[in-house]
Amino acid sequence: MRGFSLWPDTASELAAQVDRLFIGLLVIAGAILLLVALLLLAFCIRYRRGSAAQRGDLPAFVKRDVEIGWTAATLFLALFLFWWAGSTQIHAGLPPPGALEIHVLAKQWMWKTRHPNGAREINALHVPRGEAVRLVMTSQDVIHSFFVPAFRLKRDVLPGRVTEAWFRATETGEFHLFCAEFCGTDHARMIGRVVVLEPEEYARWAAAQPQQEDLAGEGAALFTALGCSGCHAVSSAVHAPRLAGVYGRPVRLADGRTIVADAAYVRDSILQPRRDVVAGYRPIMPSFAGLVDQGDLQRLVAYIQSLGAEEGRQR
Ligand code: CUA
Repeated sequence: MRGFSLWPDTASELAAQVDRLFIGLLVIAGAILLLVALLLLAFCIRYRRGSAAQRGDLPAFVKRDVEIGWTAATLFLALFLFWWAGSTQIHAGLPPPGALEIHVLAKQWMWKTRHPNGAREINALHVPRGEAVRLVMTSQDVIHSFFVPAFRLKRDVLPGRVTEAWFRATETGEFHLFCAEFCGTDHARMIGRVVVLEPEEYARWAAAQPQQEDLAGEGAALFTALGCSGCHAVSSAVHAPRLAGVYGRPVRLADGRTIVADAAYVRDSILQPRRDVVAGYRPIMPSFAGLVDQGDLQRLVAYIQSLGAEEGRQR
């Protein structure tokens, strides 16, 4: 971390892209500002009261060709800027496959993070440099916002919903993590640090964390404890959808729509099971709203996701 500087650290791929965009826009806007200001000044002097400058009609060339020319030029400039900013944003929203998946749970007033091997952190996040990291985030209470200025990364974290973000850190070091959505008394203290390590250091760090059940393992235990397995197990007498291999795949619903079984769909199915019923099944599952908290939902989703992975390996 550096001392005071008007320019924040640039420590991720996106940060470099955003900086280029920012500088590009600044240069273009500055050039236009300069041009307009200079013309204003020049015309003020040239057409001042009493000057001998010509004031008649403009020549046809200026009236038509120049007009069309600058209108077209600014149109293409605006379209180029739209494409540039738009493609940067779209790229920022699409995590590459195989990214390291980290679960983030926000609550008043702390950040809890979990690594694929089950390692947990509070108000800290260790990540390897150069690898894509996907954040799967949710909130236990109110709206928070995950903000890492050095990565130019900011995404709202909402109760009852999953939001995702991803980044690829390009510099090792410690960077600020902020909550960027006013969320109550200690909002300003809801801060942490993102520690970027070399990949081998990260592997060593992760291995040194106390052994813990990973999210999916905890989810499996919950799945049994809550009675989900009573109906969803292969051997069950109740006619309920099989869950193995369903994660990430399209599902046909009773009303004819098709929906991809992502984290949001699995959560919705647990909390509002009668909303998106799978084709061929009756809406008999009870809601688990109030019985499971956001952490439990993350565990259950991770478990169902892991079933998908196992199924995929067998094929
Ligand atoms: Cu959480 Cu502000």
